[in-house]
Amino acid sequence: MTVFNSDANNNSQAQSLRYPVICIDGPSGAGKGTVAWRLAQALNYQLLDSGALYRIVGLKAFEAGLISTDAEKSIDETALLALTQSLQIAFEPNNASGRVDIIVNGEAVGEQVRNEIVGGYASQVAVYPKVRQALLNLQQDMAKRSGLVADGRDMGTVVFPDADVKIFLTASAKARAERRMTQLLDAGETADFEAILTTIKARDKRDENRQTAPSKPAKDALVLDSSTLDVKTVYDRVKQYCQEQGIFFNR
Ligand code: DC
Repeated sequence: MTVFNSDANNNSQAQSLRYPVICIDGPSGAGKGTVAWRLAQALNYQLLDSGALYRIVGLKAFEAGLISTDAEKSIDETALLALTQSLQIAFEPNNASGRVDIIVNGEAVGEQVRNEIVGGYASQVAVYPKVRQALLNLQQDMAKRSGLVADGRDMGTVVFPDADVKIFLTASAKARAERRMTQLLDAGETADFEAILTTIKARDKRDENRQTAPSKPAKDALVLDSSTLDVKTVYDRVKQYCQEQGIFFNR
């Protein structure tokens, strides 16, 4: 698999220089995506949405018939690795959505990749060490091109252990389920709170308990609980912490 960002500030002369890396890890629904996007915009850094990589692998694995409806059933790791290695992924910042668009093998992947079902497939494929290994270099390579904000589960622990700033942004499962419920209702969809909560807890459990690169705060991460905080407050705290760690914002 290769990943490139067409918007990257690609300066080959500077390949050997070290650019700043800010890691934002934590469970889904804690607000990482929004904070990471805003930081990347304010700093003019690239944004690594590592969850999108696992989502693409999960979606393609499902389409290839590698994932069964029984989430506990194991997946053929050799086939999964071959599939992962066959993908070419590009991220394109999309100002309208406040997220990166994902281009796979030259074609834009629709919003489908962001739904909860695909999130579950992503969590299932993310358990496999060979998949994680196949995604490691390309994630690290993104930090060789410009400053980087990296959003994920293992950014601060495994992918960028020497990052300048590490933040673990979390929130209670209940608060995250309530946010998800509001999003779905706002979008005119139906939503069942208990079902959402159960799905969130199952995904957390798998991500936190897997053997390779489980979701957890790095030892040197600032842990921030956003359960009772609004987006602006979270962003302001994160920005202030980045400044304290030596990151310069000119806006
Ligand atoms: O952040 P997200 O919801 O898009 O992530 C989807 C899944 O991908 C998540 O449940 C676990 C996996 N993932 C991972 O294992 N490591 C990462 N760095 C990012 C995501």
